[in-house]
Amino acid sequence: MSTTCPAFDPPPRRLDSRDLSRLIAFEAMANDDAWSEALLSAALTDDTHEVWGVSAEEGSALRAVAVIAYLPFDAELQSISVLPESRRQGLARGLLAWLSHHARRRGAEKLLLEVRESNRAARRLYARAGFAVDGQRRGYYRRPDGSSEDAVLMSLALNDDMANR
Ligand SMILES: CC(C)(COP(=O)(O)OP(=O)(O)OC[C@H]1O[C@@H](n2cnc3c(N)ncnc32)[C@H](O)[C@@H]1OP(=O)(O)O)[C@@H](O)C(=O)NCCC(=O)NCCS
Repeated sequence: MSTTCPAFDPPPRRLDSRDLSRLIAFEAMANDDAWSEALLSAALTDDTHEVWGVSAEEGSALRAVAVIAYLPFDAELQSISVLPESRRQGLARGLLAWLSHHARRRGAEKLLLEVRESNRAARRLYARAGFAVDGQRRGYYRRPDGSSEDAVLMSLALNDDMANR
């Protein structure tokens, strides 16, 4: 097992309930599918979830956030988003590599996720990070116009994650 881990300075910080208001503000700016306050609050306090944030400097505004949930054997990436003005700088790629490394150390065998079929940026990010497509869930997401959209199911085996590459 590799001991290397992608470098962030400062490193990603695990957010807690004191970060709720800044997390709500971040979600409104960074995520078209912003989580509700109730969901964010639960993710910050539930032992099976971790919310990780990346800032330019300690104590400064969040630039990238990811939510990960731990299942009995696997981990699920429930959300990853980056502020619009901080995109295409490798933040999501770095945070994903960091999370893969961290989840494996916590004992997860696979990192699972679901992504909207139309989200080309995210699908490309995951494919380039080594995630494989496992299947599709028909009509899983709702669009603002009321129509539905498929989810693409992807996974990364953590004994071969990109922290090793
Ligand atoms: C998807 C998202 C997280 C990517 O964040 P990012 O920090 O800009 O991504 P990175 O800079 O680390 O990009 C890594 C790779 O992903 C792919 N990628 C990222 N954004 C892309 C885009 N707009 N179009 C095509 N490919 C893209 C590229 O392959 C990129 O590598 P490259 O820059 O060397 O070509 C960001 O666009 C975002 O926050 N979107 C809104 C929320 C969302 O859709 N989250 C995912 C579903 S939960």
